[in-house]
Amino acid sequence: MAFNDAFLEELRAKNEISEVIGSYVNLKRAGRLYKGLCPFHGEKTPSFTVYPDTQSFYCFGCGAGGDVVTFIRKAENLDYIEAVKLLADRSGVRMPDSGYDDSMLKRRNRIYEINKEAAHFFFRQLTDEQNRHALQYYFNRGYTFDTIKHFGLGYAPDSWDALKKHLNELHYSNEELYAANLLKKSAKGGYYDNFRGRVMIPIIDIRGRVVGFGGRVMDDSKPKYINTSDTLAYKKTHQIFAMNFAKNHCKDAIILCEGYMDVIALHQAGFENAVASCGTALTPEQVRTIAKYTDTVILSQDADEAGRKAVDKSIALFGEVGIKVKVLNVQGAKDPDEYIQKFGADRFKALLEGAETDTEYKLLLAKQKYDLTSPAQLADYVGEAARILSELSPVKRDIYASEIAEQTKVSKQAILSESKRFAGKAARTKRREMNRSAMQMQDDKDKINPEKRRHKAAALAEEHIIAVLMNHPDCIRTVSANLTEEDFVTAFNRHIFAVITRRIREGKSLNLSAVAQELSEEELGTLAGLEAMGKSLGNPQRELLECITTLKEEKLKLVQPDLAHMSDEEFRKLFEN
Ligand code: CTP
Ligand code: MN
Repeated sequence: MAFNDAFLEELRAKNEISEVIGSYVNLKRAGRLYKGLCPFHGEKTPSFTVYPDTQSFYCFGCGAGGDVVTFIRKAENLDYIEAVKLLADRSGVRMPDSGYDDSMLKRRNRIYEINKEAAHFFFRQLTDEQNRHALQYYFNRGYTFDTIKHFGLGYAPDSWDALKKHLNELHYSNEELYAANLLKKSAKGGYYDNFRGRVMIPIIDIRGRVVGFGGRVMDDSKPKYINTSDTLAYKKTHQIFAMNFAKNHCKDAIILCEGYMDVIALHQAGFENAVASCGTALTPEQVRTIAKYTDTVILSQDADEAGRKAVDKSIALFGEVGIKVKVLNVQGAKDPDEYIQKFGADRFKALLEGAETDTEYKLLLAKQKYDLTSPAQLADYVGEAARILSELSPVKRDIYASEIAEQTKVSKQAILSESKRFAGKAARTKRREMNRSAMQMQDDKDKINPEKRRHKAAALAEEHIIAVLMNHPDCIRTVSANLTEEDFVTAFNRHIFAVITRRIREGKSLNLSAVAQELSEEELGTLAGLEAMGKSLGNPQRELLECITTLKEEKLKLVQPDLAHMSDEEFRKLFEN
């Protein structure tokens, strides 16, 4: 699947890395570099670095690194060719006509096609007179026909093979339909329709492709929903329902609900910035997607215990990426859909306007737990409130403390000092946790090159040699005169070394986009890090010679025979050699 260097060079030139990454990550210039919060692991201080000089990125926290293609692969969860295509599309570079293996891409595109056909089929079934009851189901929920068309809603007839027959006629094979999760396989190996007797909700990605479906029963039977499981074209932990519509209406805020039906009802009522996760708890990937489009989220989860837990988790996840969170206080209905049905869009709008900040929400929940006329419970409430305030800035802490003091008649001073105590405790815990997670991260990075732990000195020397070569390819002469890949101790570095020295000798480019095709993701990440490190070496030639000496000494220690335990015969042989 090799692209030629000239094509990759053009792709790189037209997709300036800081610009591309800048549309995903908030980058701040720091001299010749840019820094930001790593989108690939949770962090609060920026260790993610972009190097315009070499058109590369590297995260000192998690070790992710590479070129612009690698970044897109990871950020958009694409394979190599798809990422190249996306960048080519984005910048108007023409893809080479052939010569690369895009079978995976083709299979995925077939699934998109199949899903689109299936969605059309479900829609036609819905409008078929004999399935009047299904259309009626939507009408009973208050959906208009316009809404049905807008979302492409449909109906899967109560049949084992209606969809299968239809799509077979369009020359899609059962294996392909199975790969799209539209068919299931029986124990005997026969295929049958996955969705039967359900109203169907297509899940459409940001680029407008039908990636999957949610199907709901029309009565109280179980399971209430069946969803497309993960396929080549669909990863439910990454997808956000209705983001394709909401992305154009969410500059001010996004409303995050639990269910498809909530979202559809809200859009119909004019709140086109409503979205939902697709039948899973909110994930960090979904949070990052939302963060690309807005800086405020209004949580509108169900008013039950599960919903409250979901709110707590969402507040934490959005907090990590610096998104402002507000919480809707939906009362008198179990979810936004029911609320709109009962009270109308205007009341919902008022609800949105009165949405509490996450602090107000937490304080309210705390207050509801206690009977404030009992001194003991009052003290507990103030304690809990002080803990909530401990997470805030001093100014906000002061403001809320005044309010609570007024409510409870406890002195503001006492509340503030209590909350300072909590803050101190939390800071200590956090420091411990950060140390632990730094250690964990080091462990994870060590796993990338598992031999490094045992052969630290050798591995470091190897890394320096690679770092020098990446920045000063002309040093290859010194290297060739003194070192071969057999001298390398760790297999991981040996492979990187072999690839780059071969490329230098063949006169090929060392930029990461070109090298990427010959290395694994871990190798490329490491190489990006080494390239960055190599920039700051004072005297590369001297550094190189020192490292070569170290590496050879380390290697010798490993292969040197144990003289003390050698037989006379072995000893003589060694010297003859
Ligand atoms: N869900 C699911 N599987 C289930 C139940 C729920 O995948 N068996 C997911 C669906 O994405 C659903 C969301 O969780 O939209 C919220 O569930 P729930 O509140 O029960 O459904 P609603 O969307 O409110 O549906 P309805 O109003 O029809 O009850
Ligand atoms: Mn509902």
